[in-house]
Amino acid sequence: DIVSTKEMLLDAKKNSYAIPAFNIHNLETMQAVLEGAWEMKSPIIIATTPGTVNYAGLDFLVGMAKAGAKNFNIPIAIHLDHCSDVDFIKKCILAGYKSVMIDASLKDYEENIRLTREIVNFAQKYGATVESELGVVGGQEDERKVDEKDVLYTDPNVALDFIEKTEIDSLAIAIGTAHGVYKLEPKLDIDRLEEIRNKVYVPLVLHGASGVPEKSVIEAIEHGICKINISTELKMAFIKNIRKYLSENPSANDPRNYLTPGKEAIKKVVIDKIKICGCENRA
Ligand code: 13P
Ligand code: ZN
Ligand code: NA
Repeated sequence: DIVSTKEMLLDAKKNSYAIPAFNIHNLETMQAVLEGAWEMKSPIIIATTPGTVNYAGLDFLVGMAKAGAKNFNIPIAIHLDHCSDVDFIKKCILAGYKSVMIDASLKDYEENIRLTREIVNFAQKYGATVESELGVVGGQEDERKVDEKDVLYTDPNVALDFIEKTEIDSLAIAIGTAHGVYKLEPKLDIDRLEEIRNKVYVPLVLHGASGVPEKSVIEAIEHGICKINISTELKMAFIKNIRKYLSENPSANDPRNYLTPGKEAIKKVVIDKIKICGCENRA
């Protein structure tokens, strides 16, 4: 069956590797991620934003993840990504999600604690794990859009207080990454990451990993990042190959034909990221 992210992230922390969380949007993108993970014998996190839940339907997403867990003998978690709506999160947990992110990072500190705590209390009853964000990661993911000027790096001196008051399972931090593509190569604040890692005990999460150079991702993992979120790179790989196929086959109309090259492109990215994360053969 589908699992929470508890064991996989704690093992990643203990053994200094990371688990990638890939944002998917439909059957084909989910299959491509699961097939890549299966080939690499890696635990895997399937991430869906609230926008994806609304698009694909909660029961369809949970049903597909469960089918994946039945067909592929690897730990598979389905995770709700960046949700600020408490009722929506509870609905997903009731439908079978065992991993969620409450993103109240745009609210003030006390409100972030209060909302996160409410979700943790609820999730614990269902064996679901909770990720929450402290600081503000920039860029755009679905409707969540943060201007450069509103980015706020995570304060290492507040992180432990936040974790103790909320009892979250993992912490998303802001250290210089952003959602979407980068205009300039991002510079990660590794000193800050190291300081946070030395002060807290939960696995740390890096958002906005698309476009971050391989060496920076590896450095971040060496300094305590246990979960790497990737969305944009999968979307770009998918559409690039579908466009190419359609331009070479202008009369194509069978989704099974024109979506297959997209799936193959996603699978390649997935395999590549799993190697970078060091989670190959960890299933
Ligand atoms: P990217 O789109 O930059 O990969 O960010 C993904 C992410 O953080 C999902 O939560
Ligand atoms: Zn994110
Ligand atoms: Na990014």
